[in-house]
Amino acid sequence: MGKNTVRSFWEMKKNNEKITMLTAYDYSTAKLLDEAGINSLLVGDSLGMVVLGYENTLQVTVDDIIHHCKAVSRGSQNSLIVGDMPFLSYHISIEDTIRNAGRIIQEGNAHCVKLEGGKDVIDKVEALIKAQIPVMGHIGLTPQSVNMFGGFTVQGKNEEDAQKIIDDALLLEKVGVFSIVLEGIPAKLAEIITNKLTIPTIGIGAGNKCDGQVLVINDMLGIYSDFTPKFVKKYANIKDEINKGLSNYIEEVKNGSFPRPEHSFSIADEILEKLY
Ligand code: KIV
Ligand code: NA
Repeated sequence: MGKNTVRSFWEMKKNNEKITMLTAYDYSTAKLLDEAGINSLLVGDSLGMVVLGYENTLQVTVDDIIHHCKAVSRGSQNSLIVGDMPFLSYHISIEDTIRNAGRIIQEGNAHCVKLEGGKDVIDKVEALIKAQIPVMGHIGLTPQSVNMFGGFTVQGKNEEDAQKIIDDALLLEKVGVFSIVLEGIPAKLAEIITNKLTIPTIGIGAGNKCDGQVLVINDMLGIYSDFTPKFVKKYANIKDEINKGLSNYIEEVKNGSFPRPEHSFSIADEILEKLY
């Protein structure tokens, strides 16, 4: 498989080939995912919750994203790396927005950025694209709006909200975003949007008619379990494996059966004699 780019994303939609995306926050995981053939790695601000232990994503900073983008980019050869723009990094001014996204590209080595919202942030999206920074949109249940939504609740259930999400998708496409994440909306609404757009949609909690899917790696591997949304399928239960390994380690250290000679280093006898 060759390198994934914004153009190969468009090709995949044209060819009806689904796009695979997962979050990654560190070198080792990025390497595993890249070698498995994932199309795209998202350094999501979900790192605030699953890596840093915050209650939501609002406290994540541009520096946090850059720090983790660097690690992910070192582990990845072929994946398209998407750096998430955190809360307040694209809300204050166009100048700020370009500087922050530019740093995620220049220092973090991401190929593009993702940001939440449609009409409300459209001037920022346009400015980024003019600065030659590819932008992935993100609409529906946008976690940075948690305090406006009053929780992590499914969006687009009534006609007015659904229409607003459709309008935002069309507007984002019009100004040139290369792809849009649809999060936490009814499957049928995601299908309508996917059919209206020529750019690919990436779903999370948005049914199986999207052009691609994304999940948070810690959720789908069963590592993070503080909160598991309905749309997460657990493809592995790594937490159980970790727990097994940990109790064995603790037991063996306590009873002295680890480390064994094969885990230890030796020294020549004649040197050893002089040390006693
Ligand atoms: O931060 C994140 O992980 C995301 C995905 C859930 C789309 O934005
Ligand atoms: Na995010």
